Amino acid sequence: MGPSISSTEVGTPDLSAAQFAEISGMVYNLCGIRLEAGKEGLVKSRLIKRLHALELDTFHDYIAYLRHDTSGTELVSMIDSISTNKTSFFRENQHFEFMAARVLPHQTASSAPMRIWCAGCSSGEEPFSLAILLADKLPDMVRRKIRILATDISTRMLTEAREAVYDQDTVRDVPPLLLQKHFRCVELKAPRKYQVNERLREMVSFARLNLLDEWPMSGPFSVIFCRNVMIYFDRPTRERLVNRFWDLLSPGGYLMVGHAESLTGLNTRFSYVQPAVYGKQA
Ligand SMILES: C[S@@+](CC[C@H](N)C(=O)[O-])C[C@H]1O[C@@H](n2cnc3c(N)ncnc32)[C@H](O)[C@@H]1O
Repeated sequence: MGPSISSTEVGTPDLSAAQFAEISGMVYNLCGIRLEAGKEGLVKSRLIKRLHALELDTFHDYIAYLRHDTSGTELVSMIDSISTNKTSFFRENQHFEFMAARVLPHQTASSAPMRIWCAGCSSGEEPFSLAILLADKLPDMVRRKIRILATDISTRMLTEAREAVYDQDTVRDVPPLLLQKHFRCVELKAPRKYQVNERLREMVSFARLNLLDEWPMSGPFSVIFCRNVMIYFDRPTRERLVNRFWDLLSPGGYLMVGHAESLTGLNTRFSYVQPAVYGKQA
C-alpha cells in the first residue's frame, strides 16, 4: 500500500492566521460582520467555493485578487458566501402575532398609507410572511395602501427572494390554508415547489442595501424588522444602526429585533414593549 495522502496534499488550500485576519478585516469594514477567532474553519470552507470559481489555488492568490478587484464584485460574492442567511416563514411568530394584535387594528381604522421595512430580508420568507398576514387580516382597500420594502446585502439572496419560489420543506411553516390561498404549485414532482402569488409579490419591493452605507430612502416607516442581522455586529455598529432606525420610524412606530438580540446596554431612545419589540413613543 502506498503512503496516505492528507487533505492538504490533495489540494485543500491552507488559511493562515494572517490571511484569516485580513479577510475578517475586509468583511468587517464592508458590512460590519465580526468574524471572531474560532471561525477560521467556517470561513475556509465557505470561501473554497470562491477559489474554485476563480480557479485560484491559494488564499494568498485570493486575497491578492480581492485587493485588485476595483469593481468590488468579488467582495460582494465573498460576503454572499460568508454571511449566514438562515430564515423561515413566520420565524419568531410572536412578531406576527404582535402585528395582528397591536399594529394592524390601527391601520384598519386609518386611511393613511403604511410602510414596513424588512432590513436583512435574506431569501424573502420574512417580508412574504408579512404580506400573507396583511392579505389575511386586512380588507383589500386597506392592504393596497401598505408597501413592504425588503433589503439585503446579498445579491444571491435577493435573486431568490425576487423569484419567490420555495420548496415543500421551506413552506412547511405556512399553515395549509394560507399555502393554498397565497401560493401556486410550480413543480409537481418531488420536491414540490411553490411560488408566492403575484398579488402578494406586488406588495414587496426588494433592493440591495448594505445597512452600513448611506440609505437612499427617506422614512417614515411604521414598523422596521431587523431580525437576526445585528447579532453579527459589534456594539458600536449596533448602536449606530438602531439610532438610524429611530430616525426613520414614525412616532408610535416599532422596531422588531431577533429574539436572541436586545437593545439592552445600547444608548438609544427606544422603549421596551415586549421581548424583541421596541417602540418609538408618539
Ligand atoms: C440570518 S439572516 C436573517 C433573515 C431574516 N431577517 C430572519 O430573521 O429570518 C441575516 C441576513 O442579514 C444580511 N446582512 C448581513 N449583514 C448585512 C449588512 N451589512 N447589510 C444588509 N444586510 C446584511 C445577510 O445577507 C442575511 O441575509
